[in-house]
Amino acid sequence: MSTFISHNYRGGYHFSPKEHWMNDPNGMVYFQGEYHLFYQHHPFGNTWGPMHWGHAVSRDLVVWEELPIALAPDEFGTIFSGSAVVDWNNTTGFFGGEPGLVAIFTQHAEGPEGEAPVQRQSLAYSTDAGRTWTKYAGNPVLSHDTFVDFRDPKVFWHEASSQWVMIVACGQTVCLYRSPNLIDWTLSSEFGEGIGSHDGVWECPDLFPLQVDGDPGLTKWVMLVSIGDHPELAEGSRTQYFTGDFDGERFTPDAVSQTRVRWIDYGRDNYAGVSWSDVPAEDGRRLFVGWMSNWKYANQTPTGVWRGAMTVPRELKLELRQGSAELIQQPARELEGYRKELLSLKRVTAAQASAQLADLQLESGEIRIRLGSGQSLELKVRAGRGQETVIGYSGAAGEVYIDRTRAGTADFHPLFAGRHAAVLDAADGTVELRILIDRSSVEVFAGGGRAVLTDLIYPDQASTGLSLKADDEEALVESLDIYDLSI
Ligand code: FRU
Repeated sequence: MSTFISHNYRGGYHFSPKEHWMNDPNGMVYFQGEYHLFYQHHPFGNTWGPMHWGHAVSRDLVVWEELPIALAPDEFGTIFSGSAVVDWNNTTGFFGGEPGLVAIFTQHAEGPEGEAPVQRQSLAYSTDAGRTWTKYAGNPVLSHDTFVDFRDPKVFWHEASSQWVMIVACGQTVCLYRSPNLIDWTLSSEFGEGIGSHDGVWECPDLFPLQVDGDPGLTKWVMLVSIGDHPELAEGSRTQYFTGDFDGERFTPDAVSQTRVRWIDYGRDNYAGVSWSDVPAEDGRRLFVGWMSNWKYANQTPTGVWRGAMTVPRELKLELRQGSAELIQQPARELEGYRKELLSLKRVTAAQASAQLADLQLESGEIRIRLGSGQSLELKVRAGRGQETVIGYSGAAGEVYIDRTRAGTADFHPLFAGRHAAVLDAADGTVELRILIDRSSVEVFAGGGRAVLTDLIYPDQASTGLSLKADDEEALVESLDIYDLSI
């Protein structure tokens, strides 16, 4: 990794474009051994501008190769967020003998002076594994008379009803459509009125099934809905989720989703995330990636020629807790293949662990710690030169947190510095934290992925110190493992 890239905070194992602006992940699809990641991209500047789809591919979700821009604006507008699928059975008629890729995306057209913009859904297809794309001659394929905000279609094949389903943000709700061929769409239902958080505009929905506790006899559907920033929201933009049932036309929320707003992440920087399409059944994972930023300050982050990174790809699962299905996230296991072990301790006291940490330096890496007894503890990472990012567990408050108040450069926005917490009930007595650190981010997966926090940080390159402090110096650390992940 060159000094230049390190100095401008570009992550070692988080995807970001080499230069220029990026926001939402788009069109994630697995096809012929490659994970495709498209993204909202402004190729002529490092702030948001006329949107294109940038493109990268990976064989292992860790090392990405940037490819030429996939989709550029045309007479129907710029290219906003959307999805991609494999048309295995040529339902579209775009393909001959071989299956190909179809992208379904929003085109955003500015209206004439004084009039509202128009958002419509369009298609493009590729017969060469995503390398080149042809826009469908009949675009746009779906418009709406009422809503200005009509965007971010996520499409999937619904096996039980043998049809394509689209979930798309429409005003302050999501609309569900169905289609035999991705071209002709019929409205099935609308979801969202009077339920969930409406603190910001609804965007970037997703809908997918997951087995609860891995039980093939118990499947629930998960709906993701991102909500945009609003000047009065301290948290800025973030993503909520609902669990429920889906019959091909209508989503029926579980009781818990009718009474409680649940966020996928309690940090500030995981937005507009959606899941991969067409991951083979024998793999069986539901893989997710989010945009690691926040509309509150996304255009001001201090990164120079590039701006915008993704979270690490994560595996999503559902676990039954106190009668409700809860979303669990863990980093995709492929990252483990790149770890170099720096330290591995078993059953030591906090004081002993802390002494060993004093000798280590970590710029990009992973820390896993298990505490025996619901103790409070604070880990400092990217520390030095008066800077520190604090990751802690408070037994008294029953919460896990990231405090980035003194993490490094923060003066680009008054709400950037701060402490963010998530509830973590450690009823079974152990507290387990898995922490991913990179040049400008920290991701915390606590309690097996039940409580997740993702935060950007901008420390000096040389701030690589580590320390650990527990309320009780004799507290038992069941295990502590530290890995380098400088890729
Ligand atoms: C979410 C979003 C989407 C839209 C895109 C535009 O971050 O506002 O709703 O399609 O970004 O870049």
